[in-house]
Amino acid sequence: AAWEKQVRLSSTPRRTNGFSVLVTGAAGFVGSHCSLALKKRGDGVLGLDNFNNYYDPSLKRARQNLLSKHQVFIVEGDLNDGPLLTKLFDVVPFTHVLHLAAQAGVRYAMQNPQSYISSNIAGFVNLLEVAKAANPQPSIVWASSSSVYGLNTENPFAERDRTDQPASLYAATKKAGEEIAHTYNHIYGLSLTGLRFFTVYGPWGRPDMAYFFFTKDILQGKSIDIYKTHDQKEVARDFTYIDDVVKGCLGALDTAEKSTGSGGKKKGAAQLRVYNLGNTSPVPVGRLVSILEGLLSTKAKKHVITMPRNGDVPFTHANVTLAFKDFGYKPTTDLSTGLRKFVKWYISYYGIQSKTRKGSQATGESG
Ligand code: NAD
Ligand code: UGA
Repeated sequence: AAWEKQVRLSSTPRRTNGFSVLVTGAAGFVGSHCSLALKKRGDGVLGLDNFNNYYDPSLKRARQNLLSKHQVFIVEGDLNDGPLLTKLFDVVPFTHVLHLAAQAGVRYAMQNPQSYISSNIAGFVNLLEVAKAANPQPSIVWASSSSVYGLNTENPFAERDRTDQPASLYAATKKAGEEIAHTYNHIYGLSLTGLRFFTVYGPWGRPDMAYFFFTKDILQGKSIDIYKTHDQKEVARDFTYIDDVVKGCLGALDTAEKSTGSGGKKKGAAQLRVYNLGNTSPVPVGRLVSILEGLLSTKAKKHVITMPRNGDVPFTHANVTLAFKDFGYKPTTDLSTGLRKFVKWYISYYGIQSKTRKGSQATGESG
C-alpha cells in the first residue's frame, strides 16, 4: 500500500552501511532534531509519534512538516499499540531504535500521573517486547533523564552515583525505565544504551520548559515565578544545548553494540550502558533570566517564590567523562550562545508579541 511504500522509503539508508532507525517521539523536540541529523548523514529514519496535546500539538505538526521536507515520514501512533509496532518491524529491518517518546515534564505528574505510567513504563515495555521479537533485533538507545539523580548531593553527578531518591513521579518512571532496560538486556540480550539528558534547550524546544515560557512571558510583559531551594539558595541547572545532545545521541548510536538475542550473562553479549549527556556547567535560574533579558532587551517582572517548586531538585550538574571516553561527547555551546539561537528561532516562529510592539500574531502555525 501507499503507507508501506512511504514507511520503506523513509527508513531506507542512502549511505553504505547506513542505519535504519526507528525514532520514537520524532515530532518532539529532541526527536525532530535527531531525525533530521540522522537523515542528513544518510541514515534511514522512520518516526513514530502520537501527537498528544501535553503541549501545543501545532508545534509538533510544524516539526513534522519540516521533517517531511527532508523525506522523514512520521507514523502517527502510540507506543502501546503492539500490533502497529509489530507491523513496522515486519516491514522494516530496523538496525536501531532511538527511543525518545515519553511523558516529559516534572510538574504535570501532579495533574496526570497515569500518563507517565502509560508512556514511560507500559509504552517502553511494549516497545522492548516488540524489539526483542524482531528479526534482526535492533540496538536501542533511549532517553533517561538527569532527574534520576533526584536529591543526590554529589556534585557533579557521575553515572555510578545513587539514583534512589527521585523527587517526582516523572523521575521515578525514568529510573524504572533503567531497571526495566536492565532486565531486557539480561534476559534477551538486547543492546540498550540509556542517555541521561540534562535540561535540554534550543530552537523548536518545548513550550512547557522554563526558558521557553520565560521568553514568552517576558515579551508579553507578564511576571515570571522564580523558585528557590529549601535553604533559600538559587536553583541551578546544567542547561544543555540541543546540538550537543544530538551529537551525543548519534555518538551513542554509532557505538551501540549489536543485540545478541542470547541473554546478558553470556560471554560477548551486549552490555547495558548508561551515560550522562549534560553541559558540565550549572547555571542559576536567575542568570538564565538575566541572559534572556539581555537578548530580548526587556526587563523581566520577577516574582520570587521562597520555596522549591513541587518535584524540583535543587541543582543538576553532569560529569560526562564516560560519554567522552566512549564516543567523544564534548558539549561546546554555552548558555548565552544557545539562548541567542533559541530567541532568534522563537521570534522568527512566533513573531514579537510584546505590549509595546504589536507584531505578528503567535498562531503557532507558521513554520
Ligand atoms: P517532547 O515532549 O518534545 O517529545 C516527546 C514526544 O513523544 C512528543 O512529540 C510526544 O507526542 C511523543 N509521545 C509521548 N508519549 C507517546 C506515546 N505513548 N506514544 C507515541 N508518542 C508519544 O520531549 P523532549 O524534550 O523531546 O524529550 C525527549 C525525551 O528526552 C523524553 O524521553 C524526555 O523524557 C527525555 N528528556 C528530555 C529532557 C529535556 O530537557 N528536553 C531532559 C531529560 C530527558
Ligand atoms: C527538564 C525537563 O522538563 C524534564 O523533562 C527533564 O527530564 C529534566 O529537564 C531533566 O534534565 O532530566 P527541569 O530542569 O525541571 O526539567 O526544567 P524546567 O521545568 O524548564 O525548569 C528549569 C528550572 O527553572 C528549574 O530550576 C525550575 O525550578 C525553574 N523554574 C521553572 C522556575 O524558577 N520557575 C518556573 O515557573 C518554572
